[in-house]
Amino acid sequence: MKAGTSMVSKSFLKSFDKFICNNSRNITSRPQILTFKRNKSIFSDAISMATKLVTPAIMLKNPNSIVSNEMSNLAKHVMDLISSGHPILNRVTSYYFEAEGKKIRPLIVLLMSKGLSKIPIEKRNPLRLDSADIPDDPVYSKLPENLTHKNSGNKSILLENPISSFSPLHILHGIKPVNPLTRGPEPLPQSSFDVENGILPKQRRLAEIVEMIHTASLLHDDVIDHSDTRRGKDSGNKAFTNKMAVLAGDFLLGRATVSISRLRNPEVVELMSNSIANLVEGEFMQLKNTSVDKNLTTINYGDVSKNIPPESKNLQNKVHDYRVSINPSEKVSHEEVIDTAFDYYLHKTYLKTASLISMACRSAAILSGVDKKVVDECFEFGKNIGICFQLVDDMLDFTVSKKALGKPSGADLSLGIATAPVLYAWKEDKSLGPLILRNFSEKSDVQVAVEAVKKYNGVEQTRKLAEKYRDMALSNLRTALPNSDSRAALEFLTNSILSRKK
Ligand code: FPP
Ligand code: MG
Repeated sequence: MKAGTSMVSKSFLKSFDKFICNNSRNITSRPQILTFKRNKSIFSDAISMATKLVTPAIMLKNPNSIVSNEMSNLAKHVMDLISSGHPILNRVTSYYFEAEGKKIRPLIVLLMSKGLSKIPIEKRNPLRLDSADIPDDPVYSKLPENLTHKNSGNKSILLENPISSFSPLHILHGIKPVNPLTRGPEPLPQSSFDVENGILPKQRRLAEIVEMIHTASLLHDDVIDHSDTRRGKDSGNKAFTNKMAVLAGDFLLGRATVSISRLRNPEVVELMSNSIANLVEGEFMQLKNTSVDKNLTTINYGDVSKNIPPESKNLQNKVHDYRVSINPSEKVSHEEVIDTAFDYYLHKTYLKTASLISMACRSAAILSGVDKKVVDECFEFGKNIGICFQLVDDMLDFTVSKKALGKPSGADLSLGIATAPVLYAWKEDKSLGPLILRNFSEKSDVQVAVEAVKKYNGVEQTRKLAEKYRDMALSNLRTALPNSDSRAALEFLTNSILSRKK
């Protein structure tokens, strides 16, 4: 039995007992209930009262319980979406999904979707409300029954079920994909939207897509960070090699992209595709690490410094220009240097961690047809909770052991990355500037930075900043959503980020 279910049953029985005691004139003891000729109205009153008593307790202890069906189906659906024809590729791509992850991102998307469904339908735009099902694969699903096993001596699993596994092996068997430009308009899928439940089929798929993109980014991140553990076991790169981990991440991204395009909602497709680009840009900003470098074409990591060739004359991109100097002769105040470093750090944090969830919350709101103000609040909520989440992650890197974290701790400084706790210390102690600039690459740099973080309460100040983002997220929720169990669960989740230990 799932933990949530047993908790519900226990609390329910407790409340039921309480009700029975308070009504002992009608019912004298619990065993008697079994033989008692049930007075239907007493019984249903008891159920309704006990439910009211129990619901907040469920929510407060386990926000998952509100979307438990969707959460337990999520892993299964993701497995369907990522299956390939190659057994080893399947093992690498499913490796992180099999470990006990927090799955906080899909949980937020599902709770947000359910919370949005409580907005009265009159306040939404029926033309924008997207309750359609996700279409089947338009290219490969047209395989005629009699051609299924043609040319394949033995029964092929892939050819048996071309829809659920869309690796296009049957192309080899002479069946060509339908040209999307000539095959005419796609029939509109029927909706299996369950009004009672409130979560739209495309919102459910969105939650799955978010988990796929996040897992792809973790596979790549562990290669970049040379991590050897994740979720309490060997990291993907350690278990399977860097090459396989990178390829598996790419494969997950490919499948996530297919799923995004099948949402058939151009605005959502654009948002979710952008979130992938943002993750990479954020990770790139982290390679560069700090604004305090006048040379945009230098990336320092550890003791290696790479000079990137000058940019192409054809490239007219606007770059994020955070350059400031720490050279005393250039008269830039220390305050200005620190402000710019924080701007850079928060921008990187948004792109690397918050962008995926903020785009997904925005997408969930767009699919539910709510007005622009609500869409914007949902986006802001995702941004603020995402930044809060990463600030806590950066704090835990200083405070929690590797064993408790299930992944390397104290890793950021060793990787040359200056996060909020160090930036707060630097604000008080200018002499940390050169250490940050050289990515803590000299022998005692990491130790000096750790001492400075302790001396200037860098962790406590980071916690205060995280609290600010938490409060903004709570305020976004209250503006965007009417009061409901789902909103209360999102509030609970937002509050619990500050107390998480891993
Ligand atoms: C964890 O950061 C990593 C991320 C939140 C994003 C990583 C993004 C990339 C590697 C870009 C490529 C993206 C895709 C979609 C393939 P962390 O190292 O601070 O956290 P950790 O302690 O959990 O490793
Ligand atoms: Mg990492």
